[in-house]
Amino acid sequence: MESKELKKKYIEFFKKKGHKNIVNASLIPENDPTVLFTTAGMHPLVPFLLGEKHPQGKRLVNVQKCIRTSDIEEVGDDCHLTFFEMLGNWSLGDYFKEEMVEMSYEFLIDVLKLDKERIGISCFKGDKDAGKDTVSAEKWGALGINKERIAFLPKSENWWESPGETGPCGPDSEMFFYIRKKVPKKFDVEDKNWVEIWNDVFMEYNKNQNGKYEKLKQQNVDTGMGVERTVAILNGYDNVYEIDTLKPLMDKVNKLSKKNDVRSKRIVVDHLRAAVFILNEKVEPGNLEQGYVLRRLIRRAIRHGKLLGINHRFCKDVVDEVFKVSDYKFNKKFILNEIKKEEEKFDRSLNQGMRIFEKESKGLKIVSGKLAFTLFASYGFPLEMTREMAKEKGLKVDEKGFEKAFEEHQKLSRTATAGRFKSGLADSSEMTTKLHTATHLLLQALKEVLHDENIMQKGSNITPERLRLDFNFPRKVERDELDKIEDKVNEQIKKKLEVKFEEMSLEEAKKKGVKGAFEHKYGEKVKVYSIGSYSKELCAGPHVSSLKELGKFKIKKEESSSSGVRRIKAKLL
Ligand code: ALA
Repeated sequence: MESKELKKKYIEFFKKKGHKNIVNASLIPENDPTVLFTTAGMHPLVPFLLGEKHPQGKRLVNVQKCIRTSDIEEVGDDCHLTFFEMLGNWSLGDYFKEEMVEMSYEFLIDVLKLDKERIGISCFKGDKDAGKDTVSAEKWGALGINKERIAFLPKSENWWESPGETGPCGPDSEMFFYIRKKVPKKFDVEDKNWVEIWNDVFMEYNKNQNGKYEKLKQQNVDTGMGVERTVAILNGYDNVYEIDTLKPLMDKVNKLSKKNDVRSKRIVVDHLRAAVFILNEKVEPGNLEQGYVLRRLIRRAIRHGKLLGINHRFCKDVVDEVFKVSDYKFNKKFILNEIKKEEEKFDRSLNQGMRIFEKESKGLKIVSGKLAFTLFASYGFPLEMTREMAKEKGLKVDEKGFEKAFEEHQKLSRTATAGRFKSGLADSSEMTTKLHTATHLLLQALKEVLHDENIMQKGSNITPERLRLDFNFPRKVERDELDKIEDKVNEQIKKKLEVKFEEMSLEEAKKKGVKGAFEHKYGEKVKVYSIGSYSKELCAGPHVSSLKELGKFKIKKEESSSSGVRRIKAKLL
C-alpha cells in the first residue's frame, strides 16, 4: 500500500463517521510560542480543545505534516523520522473513549485488515492525577484483543500533553503492531518489535501554570497515526525507509555511496527530506530558531554524506527525489537555491574543519572547549556535530569550556567592529542580531506599559530591515502607548545594559521562573538570555553582548495579526 492510499482510506473512514476534513496546517505554528514546529495534529486545535467552538464542528479529521527534533538522536533507526505525516481525528466534546476505541479497532482490523493477533495495546495505569483507564481496556477486550496483550502503563508512557508547559492533555491508549511473524503471548513495550502506530488521547484535562491538572469543560479525543510507520507495517517492511515516499531517496543515496553505513544513509535521507519541508515554509537557513534547526539538518546531512565518501555536492540529487515522491506542491526554485547556497557555504569549511578536528583530537580523551569553539566559529560546525564526531571516536566534548570560549569571544567582539565569527555567525547579519535583542526589550516594555504580565510572544520574524513581533493582546495599542513603549526601550538602551546567557536544563529554567518564549527542542539544554535585570527569556540567541550597540529604537507600525493577536513592526535607527 502506498502512503496516498492509506491517507485516503483514513480520511474517507472518518468522513463516513461524520468528521470534517480540516486543513493540513503550516509546519510553523502560527500562534503557539511553545514550539518551533508543528509536532502533532492537535497543535493548531488547542483553543478548540480548550472549549472554543470550531467552525467546522465537533468531529474533525486530517493529515498533518509534522517535524519532531526531540527524537533526533534516534533518527537512523527503523522508525524515527524528523519529518513525518500524521493522520488524526478529533472529537471536541463529542464522542469519548468507547466510541473511539471501537472506531480504532474497526479501522485497523476491518479496513486495513491487520491481524488482530499482532496488535498490542497500552492503557493508562492511573495515578494521583487521574484514574486507571479501565473503560478503554475493557472495550479493547470486548472487541477481542487478548487480555495479555493489553498493558496498563504509567504516565511516562500513557499520558499525552502538548510540548508547552500548559495546555490540554490526558491519558492515552496506544496501539502497537508486532513486526515479526512469531508474536509473543504478552505485549511488552520494551520489546522494540512492537511498533507504535496509533495513539488515542483522551483529553479531559488542562495542565495549568502551576503544573496542576484541572478538568476541562469538555471531554475531547485527539488521535495520531504515523503514516510512514503504518505504511511500512501494511507492506510487511521492518523499517520505514522501504516505503514509497522514502525508498527512492534511499536508492539514490545507495547509488551515491557503496559504503555499508546504513545509519548515515538514513540520516542523509531523513535530514534532507525534513529540510525540504521546512524550506517549503519559506524558512531560510540561519542562526535563529527555525532557520538554525534547518541549518543544522542540512549541515549534519552533508557531514554524513562525507562519512559515506560522497565527494561532490550531492544535496540536489536527494532533494529532487523528495520532490518526485511527495504529493505536496513545492517551491522548487527557492528550495534548490537555498540548499545550494548552504551547501556551498558549509562545503568550503567542512573538509578543513574535519581535518583540524582529526589532527587536534588525536590522543585526547576530551575535545577542548577551545577546539569545539574554533570549529563552531570558524568552520560553522554546530556544537552537536562536534559532539557527534567526538562520540564516534569515543571522546567527550568540554562543553563548559565551549561556553566559556563563546562568552569570552562575545566580550572581545564587543570592542571589535563587525562580528569576528567567520562562517559560524558572520552570516547572521549584525543587524538581525541587534533586532533580536530589541525584540526582547520590546516584549518586556509591552508588559510594563500595557500592565499585562501575560503578554507573550506569539510569533517573531526578523529581517535586516526590521523586527516583527506578534503578541497576545485584546485591543489596538494606541499611539501614546506606543510612544511610552518606545521610550522604555530607549531608556534601557541608554543604560547600556549587558546581555548575557546561561545554559541550563529546561527544568532549572522553569524553576527559576523564566517565562517561556521558544522552547528550543533541539537538545536538552536551553539558553536563558538576560538583559541587565530588565528581561529574562528562554531563547536560542544569538544576541548582542551590550545594549550600547543598539542605536535608537523606533516603532513603525501596530496592527492586528489575528484574533486576539497584535503585531508590531519596529526598527533600529
Ligand atoms: N497528539 C497525539 C500524538 O501526537 C495524538 O501522539
